[in-house]
Amino acid sequence: MPTEATPPAALPRHLAIIMDGNGRWARLRHRPRTLGHRVGARAVNLCIDYCLARGIGALTLFAFSSENWRRPQEEVSALMQLFLRALDREIAELQRRGVRVRFIGGREAFAPELRARMDQAERATAGNGRLALNVAANYGGRWDIAQAAARLARRAMQGGLDPDAIDESLFASELSLAGQPEPDLFIRTGGERRISNFLLWQLAYTELYFTDLLWPDLSVEALDAALSDFAGRQRRFGQTAEQIEASGRA
Ligand code: FPP
Repeated sequence: MPTEATPPAALPRHLAIIMDGNGRWARLRHRPRTLGHRVGARAVNLCIDYCLARGIGALTLFAFSSENWRRPQEEVSALMQLFLRALDREIAELQRRGVRVRFIGGREAFAPELRARMDQAERATAGNGRLALNVAANYGGRWDIAQAAARLARRAMQGGLDPDAIDESLFASELSLAGQPEPDLFIRTGGERRISNFLLWQLAYTELYFTDLLWPDLSVEALDAALSDFAGRQRRFGQTAEQIEASGRA
């Protein structure tokens, strides 16, 4: 079980993760990359349990980027099968645990069967409030910004929106994660130190944490380490350290 090393006040409300390193985890064991993804799916469950146990209210996972279609066809198919099976297997369990699932990204690219399962999962869990689980699939941060711009442009062309009324908050209301707090903590496993077109707008003030750990090796201890690193950071949002300290004393 998670330890109580981090005081609740320093907990992230929203955790965003790039789950990287499945392929390398498998290669190190001379096994097919798809095994890495299967074991990676178990780490997803561990992470959901962790958020539930700690009271972290939102978790966004990068499951499949818009660039991942460029992978070998058989790996893409295996991932699609894995998503399908995970949806079939886990929905009742997520429902029981009070998890609300949403998919962000261009859904039209997926097979009708998978799209139907995604819709079904969203509908079945829509009433849950313990954890908002956002699964980014065929997602790209630039796509998210472009689709928000297109929607606002459409509204403006139809005469329902004055372009001068478009400010950051209106813009954010058209993004995929509208209505959810922005991620406080971003974690990327697998050793790369990049954001790779994940939540570009929403990560503006997020604390970034990179670890060499490969995603299938994720553990409660590894998540504790990320959270305790987060707890030690001072988030200034453009203010000075003195201002932040003074407001903490007030
Ligand atoms: C990155 O590792 C991982 C992915 C592209 C897929 C992520 C998918 C899962 C963790 C499986 C289950 C997910 C859900 C939501 C059920 P990589 O293949 O890029 O690893 P590498 O960098 O070592 O090659």
